[in-house]
Amino acid sequence: MLMIANWKMNMTRGEIATYLDSLSGEDRWKIWRDRGIRLFLCPPYPYLDYLGGQCRSRNLPIGIMAQNMCAFEKGAYTGEVSAAMLKDLAVDGVLLGHSERRLYFGETDGAIAEKAARALSSALVPVVCFGETRQERDLGQCAAVWSRQVGPVWERVTKCREEGVRTPVYWAYEPVWAIGTGRTADLGDIREVASHLRKTFGEDCASGLLYGGSVNDESVSGLYEKGTVHGFLVGGAFLEAETVLRVFDRLFGHP
Ligand code: PGA
Repeated sequence: MLMIANWKMNMTRGEIATYLDSLSGEDRWKIWRDRGIRLFLCPPYPYLDYLGGQCRSRNLPIGIMAQNMCAFEKGAYTGEVSAAMLKDLAVDGVLLGHSERRLYFGETDGAIAEKAARALSSALVPVVCFGETRQERDLGQCAAVWSRQVGPVWERVTKCREEGVRTPVYWAYEPVWAIGTGRTADLGDIREVASHLRKTFGEDCASGLLYGGSVNDESVSGLYEKGTVHGFLVGGAFLEAETVLRVFDRLFGHP
């Protein structure tokens, strides 16, 4: 299980230290990790290194992911951050194609596929976000949108696999209408996504499905089903360390 906190453009150094203090002091992270349950924190770029160091010095077995990455290898791309730089900072993975990146920064399905290929070949675990808008849902276009968003990435994943790349890939189903709204999809919707991925792209594709969109300590239990949901991508609720602990307790029990 992957439990991922997407901090978006939030948190500063002092807030990060306080957050980690609230998570520290117990062995539960090690127990959860040994059960295959991992927490990943996604801070803004400037804090990747600081966060990694703070987790290590506190002996917290918590992973680090970036919120974005450049598709190009290196060179004259002002303002961008490469896969090699993320690896250099001991980052484990990267969120790609978040709906906010698609909406505000014009990221296309093709560009996201390029990024995913770069991440995979750099041994960074890509967490590829996809999901329909309210309007697309109302027009009955969900399946077409999921295929359009996942398809080009899956094609690149398949090619990487043929070249011997074994880095895993995860898919975060994040319906746009559920992000930051307090409304979640329901388990039926998530099952439908899993079955669509399975039918369209094969069992392997559906085996890394996560859900995101207004997950919190109250909603999380109703959104989980073993074998269908392999983790959660959480925004607002995971800006509070206390909620992280409550969600873990709800799902996995206090060790
Ligand atoms: P939310 O955000 O949990 O605040 O809805 C999720 C996300 O955008 O990844």
